[in-house]
Amino acid sequence: MKIKNVGVLGCGLMGAGIAEVCAKAGYKTIVREVSEDLLEKGMGRIRSSLEKAVTKGKLTDKDCEAALGRLSGAVELDDLAECDLVIEAIVEDVEAKRKTFGNLDRVVKDKAIFASNTSSLTITQLAVTTSRPDRFVGLHFFNPVPVMKLVEVVNTLLTADSTVAQARSFVESLGKHPVDCKDNSGFIVNRLLIPYLLDAIRFYEEGGGTLEDIDGAMKLGCGYPMGPFTLLDFVGLDTTYYIANIMFEEYREKRFAPPPLLKQMVTAGRLGRKSGRGFYRYDR
Ligand code: 3HC
Repeated sequence: MKIKNVGVLGCGLMGAGIAEVCAKAGYKTIVREVSEDLLEKGMGRIRSSLEKAVTKGKLTDKDCEAALGRLSGAVELDDLAECDLVIEAIVEDVEAKRKTFGNLDRVVKDKAIFASNTSSLTITQLAVTTSRPDRFVGLHFFNPVPVMKLVEVVNTLLTADSTVAQARSFVESLGKHPVDCKDNSGFIVNRLLIPYLLDAIRFYEEGGGTLEDIDGAMKLGCGYPMGPFTLLDFVGLDTTYYIANIMFEEYREKRFAPPPLLKQMVTAGRLGRKSGRGFYRYDR
């Protein structure tokens, strides 16, 4: 089956980015949110990202118009019935995802492939809520989606080889680089990145250095584009906290345990860039 119509569930930061790259790559893309308000907000995010690309000279007016023409929004799952591929990017909550996939399975055509953009949940526990675990993969994109080249393609014990092959060629058609991952919580990147970020917080709590010095050291000493605290604020402290808890639950290893300071900051509403304050302050 050739993938022509793509559905994206969720139009938050990741869902909007995924819908944008799919529409730009020529796919008829329908993005679904749970309310008209959230849908309007998410579509606005996609429009302004595409317009920014035009202003920067990365996209022509014509290509921007064409991408917008391929994009539509929905609040009903039924509107995704004819999609060939549906990529889920809703809240990182296993029960919410399982329920959504169960409902989706009943309305989307049998041949369609389902994918989850989960960053830390295992794919198997989502795939088995559907009648098509052989046509179910993880497609894990990175933030900001229009810029980051990697997509982790996660296969489970139940995924058919033909599904993995189709998922890989879809990722390549977006101009991105697929890597194959086993269905381990955190896959490749978060398995290595999350302990590093949590360790940076523990090191700071121990008085190992100032935020600026630790960030500067990792940036200038290792050539990373962002130091750990800038990256934590960028990813979102709440998101990091959810991921760490899921990974700790899975592996029961200390390196995945969220440090007390992370929990306190999330409880206090210091979520990073999105809330105007995390480890650093931001003008909103
Ligand atoms: N949308 C589109 N383009 C964007 C963008 C966005 N949201 N943000 C930045 N860009 C583009 C800019 O337009 C610019 O393009 P140009 O060079 O062609 O003009 C380019 O990216 C560089 O941007 P800036 O010059 O504004 O700033 P930087 O050089 O600091 O780059 C960055 C910004 C690309 C975000 C870079 O700092 C970076 O790569 N940071 C690390 C990001 C990272 O590690 N992401 C992964 C997070 S982990 C994750 O997502 C997994 C999840 O499960 C937690």
